[in-house]
Amino acid sequence: MRQLKLGVMISGSGTNLQALIDACSQSDYPAQISVVIANRPNAKGLKRAKEAGIDAVCIDHTGYDDRASFEDAIHDCLKEHEVELVCLAGFMRILNAEFVNRWKDRMINIHPSLLPSYKGLHTHARAIEDGVRFGGCTIHFVRPEMDNGPILMQTVVPIAAGETEESLAAKILFYEHQMYPAAVRLIAEGKVRVSGNKVVYSDTDLGTKGMISPLV
Ligand code: GAR
Repeated sequence: MRQLKLGVMISGSGTNLQALIDACSQSDYPAQISVVIANRPNAKGLKRAKEAGIDAVCIDHTGYDDRASFEDAIHDCLKEHEVELVCLAGFMRILNAEFVNRWKDRMINIHPSLLPSYKGLHTHARAIEDGVRFGGCTIHFVRPEMDNGPILMQTVVPIAAGETEESLAAKILFYEHQMYPAAVRLIAEGKVRVSGNKVVYSDTDLGTKGMISPLV
């Protein structure tokens, strides 16, 4: 079985990375992680990668004069590891358009809201403050504008009465961990393509695969 080579980029805890590591450890999973890159030396995800025997590289943004040279170093590392799909998994640096365009349609991101609502930070607190009834998470192909790009998959999570930022974050994170491996599988199996600003599924039966929801 051909396995798509992934490069996973993180900044912190790396629980989504762990979900991908666990998926890739299954013999029938059509992807493998070639490299994990963190921009912070103390990112816990680096340890997760090393424990799984995966190349783990710290490219510390504070060691570079500007964003372009930092991103060149990341690009070189991804190329060295023959990465075919970049997975941003809690990578908390803004990326220049030049870098994003080099990986156009070959880079996905996970974001803890139902995009295009609640781009940026503190998504759960803002959703609770606004009194919306549903939160969730989104996996999308990356475009130069932050938290923007063709949507591949979303999970809808109800916001209960009395919900706190912490309780909502925990509920949504659970579904992030289901969704990321499922989204990578769809790409690896060639079942999706990007058409303009939308993701198209190759098979209409896959329609509901774009949504993992506790409600259905
Ligand atoms: C996740 O909730 C992810 O959706 C979010 O950071 C967290 C990383 O957790 N990403 C963003 O906010 C990107 N805009 P993890 O390190 O445990 O996977």
